[in-house]
Amino acid sequence: MSKRLRKVVFPVAGLGTRFLPATKVVAKEMLPVLDRPLIQYAVDEAVEAGADTLIFVTNRYKHAIADYFDKAYELEAKLAEKGKETLLAQVRSTLPSHVRAIFVTQPEALGLGHAVLCAKPVVGDEPFGVMLPDDLILNEEGAGALGQMAEAALTHDAGVIAVEEVPHDQTHKYGIVATGDEIDAHASKIRHMVEKPKPEEAPSNLGVVGRYVLPGRIFALLEKTRPGSGGEIQLTDAIEALLQEQSVLAYRFAGQRFDCGNKRGLVRATMHLALRDPELAPAVHEAFAAR
Ligand code: UTP
Repeated sequence: MSKRLRKVVFPVAGLGTRFLPATKVVAKEMLPVLDRPLIQYAVDEAVEAGADTLIFVTNRYKHAIADYFDKAYELEAKLAEKGKETLLAQVRSTLPSHVRAIFVTQPEALGLGHAVLCAKPVVGDEPFGVMLPDDLILNEEGAGALGQMAEAALTHDAGVIAVEEVPHDQTHKYGIVATGDEIDAHASKIRHMVEKPKPEEAPSNLGVVGRYVLPGRIFALLEKTRPGSGGEIQLTDAIEALLQEQSVLAYRFAGQRFDCGNKRGLVRATMHLALRDPELAPAVHEAFAAR
């Protein structure tokens, strides 16, 4: 990609069925890992990667996400009045002042590819990021996953997709890539990509996780993409078409991923962060010792 990444799309219009009944009223992205909702971790990673325009693709039931990033006048006034400066700073820190949040609606949950296409009028023709907030990625050693990918996209002038090795019997839960030439220690050229293949049909065990850096060209390809796996318009199918025209890299990011789209991953992420928090770690150790 010849331009720096400024825009990031968050497709958050899914139904979140794996967290029902909570997701009847609470958007999956608002489920907390300790005291911050999942979406906040993703937004922080996007801002750290250099983004200044965040585009949330939501549905009509997910007002909470817009409310969360809006200014909370009454709450802020009360905290200020009571001199609760630390809490006030936390409430104000959800979105830095140089970053704008734009909300677009996906009228019907027709698939991830369709959700990304809904952001076309705001993104236009420039490279952009896509982040699925239920993939929480922590890199305590350095730059976040999207920042690493944005750098690779600029260096190699290519689209970049985050991948991770997944157990062979789990390929039906992921987009799976077949890679060719290695570009460097983290990146290889993608030859072929397929959505949710059965293990016996999977071209590898490299699964796509929820971070992408894509060229604006993907929108024209998404417009032509027909429903695929699960009857949904799949981003994977449009990327497979993009591969016929330009290089796209599979990127093995540095960091640890927690799949918070299911209960097991959400619990693991919560425990991981709790054990790193000096106030909470003793409580976790005590709870295990008591068993
Ligand atoms: P998932 O496959 O995790 O689906 O979507 P989901 O609805 O969020 O959750 P489950 O499987 O029912 O529990 C992957 C990402 O794509 C978004 C979701 O919000 C999630 O971030 N998505 C999916 C959309 O925005 N629109 C869609 O039509 C489908």
